[in-house]
Amino acid sequence: MNDPRTNPSTPKPAGAPAGESVWSAAERELGITQGGPRNIGWLCSDRVCQLGRGSHLALVWEGIQGQTRRYTYDDLRRCTNTIAAFLQGCSVVPGDRVCLFLDKVPELYMGVLGVLKLGAIAQPLFSAFGDESLLTRLQSSEATAILTQRKHLGKVRKILAQTPWLKHVIVVDAGAAPLQQREIGFDLEAAEKVENFDAHPVTAETPSLLHYTSGTTGQPKGAQHVHGSIVAQYATTRQVLDLKPDDVYWCTADPGWVTGTSYGIIGPWSVGVCQVVMEAGFNTEAWYQFLQRHRVTVWYSAPTAIRLLMREGGDVVKRHDLRSLRHLCSVGEPLNAEAVVWSQKTYGLPFLDTYWQTETGCIVITNLPGMPIKPGSMGKPFPGIEATIVDLKTHQPIGKTGVVGLIALKPGWPSMMRTYWRNPEVYAGKFKNGWYICGDRASIDADGYYWFVGRDDDVINTAGHLVGPFEIESALLEHPAVAESAAVATPDPVNMEVVKAFVALKPGFQGDPDLELEIMNFIRKRLSPLAMPQKIEFTQALPKTRSGKIMRRMLRAKEFNEPLGDLSTLEND
Ligand code: WTA
Repeated sequence: MNDPRTNPSTPKPAGAPAGESVWSAAERELGITQGGPRNIGWLCSDRVCQLGRGSHLALVWEGIQGQTRRYTYDDLRRCTNTIAAFLQGCSVVPGDRVCLFLDKVPELYMGVLGVLKLGAIAQPLFSAFGDESLLTRLQSSEATAILTQRKHLGKVRKILAQTPWLKHVIVVDAGAAPLQQREIGFDLEAAEKVENFDAHPVTAETPSLLHYTSGTTGQPKGAQHVHGSIVAQYATTRQVLDLKPDDVYWCTADPGWVTGTSYGIIGPWSVGVCQVVMEAGFNTEAWYQFLQRHRVTVWYSAPTAIRLLMREGGDVVKRHDLRSLRHLCSVGEPLNAEAVVWSQKTYGLPFLDTYWQTETGCIVITNLPGMPIKPGSMGKPFPGIEATIVDLKTHQPIGKTGVVGLIALKPGWPSMMRTYWRNPEVYAGKFKNGWYICGDRASIDADGYYWFVGRDDDVINTAGHLVGPFEIESALLEHPAVAESAAVATPDPVNMEVVKAFVALKPGFQGDPDLELEIMNFIRKRLSPLAMPQKIEFTQALPKTRSGKIMRRMLRAKEFNEPLGDLSTLEND
């Protein structure tokens, strides 16, 4: 009778104005009015309590030591107030950037909302980043405060001399550890909770989050989002992730990645669901146990994880009770048709592919619940999003099915980034003929389904995470043996792509396995494990255009056994 798998989609509420847009409907459901409160921090905690759901669980967190912490929406409201008040006490003011450099601990999830309540801008960064990755992103944002943990303090201390604007290093698990200048302890559990905090009054255009993302050239750029984004994140959470207030939801993404904030903080908490978070990384058995233990109903994950689960096969699935699951979605990389078919066979549910970017802030092309699935296709534009495929060179809509071009979106949806932080030129370059160009190649079929082909730039997508070649090459150059280098993608059965570096050495250095290992570790420590080249090929010289630019695309084409194409065009790239 009450089989959650047949849970019908939310019916349109009585009284919804006819012809109301998906965004207006979301505003109405969120209670957003002209001039009324719309601070994301407030909407995701205080408002849920005002609706009488203060005692409903907001977060169940499992730490790596096996400990569990549970928070109701009332707790979430008070904890986020407490963080906002603490930051205020540190003289953080609206508009300041506050970096969150934390593992997947409750302080990260609540910290983002606390920063937003204060009207400051949250800059979440993967705690796996090395000091150099951290430094480049802090040099761009000029954050005045950073929340971190003891285990990451070493990396933060290393860069303090170069970040004079960073006034407060807030350590959330300091305990009795000796702290240095600029460092201050903050214990969320022990802190006296702040019952009332007036969330900073914001407009739809007030900056909310900065998410750093990689392009082909230059250092990573901060996609700057606004409080108005919640309208799109709420609408897509309801309609694509199909979340209803009584769901138990698991988003496996880290909030250092946009998926972990749009759909790991804002979407679910604006709907008022209980979300579960596992601090530890991927492990097949642990993941199935987690799903079973918490009776997860909706699960949002990524193709790399699904491929790893596929590799383990169906027997391990049979040893667990996963009957609570009713809806599965995936994002970050192409979801292979086999993975969709396998999940249907194994879980009795297909993984639905969703496509979007850091820059779009919300799912833009997707499979909606109930829509016929074509395994291997990303689905169709979300209602409210106008999408097309434009010609690779002219950027005019192609208007024909089956022709590969670039995915383009009509600007104006609520969660679109408003700029790249302090980089308006690169932002402006993303628009052509009135379209926002995503930078991905795809085609549309006769039924309007989008089929992903590949990226149109040199960015490497490894396990769903974008890594910029420039950042890797810059770091490689800092190694004493490296004269020049090129970082490109090479195929990988699980991570889809991994980084491969072509390296020309300075005279007197020998390209042997010891040096290879040393360079790999050098990059892992400075940047991150994902940016670390899995392979290094030592070479005498790198292929270059006549103007001296390294032809990464040629090296990449060789890795993928693809035709080299017309290399003369590279001259103008
Ligand atoms: C890729 C992630 C194929 C794409 C939310 C995009 C995908 C980039 C898909 C954005 C998908 C994301 N199928 N490719 N369903 N989803 N991508 O900014 O290249 O980390 O432009 O945001 O990931 O990655 P980002």
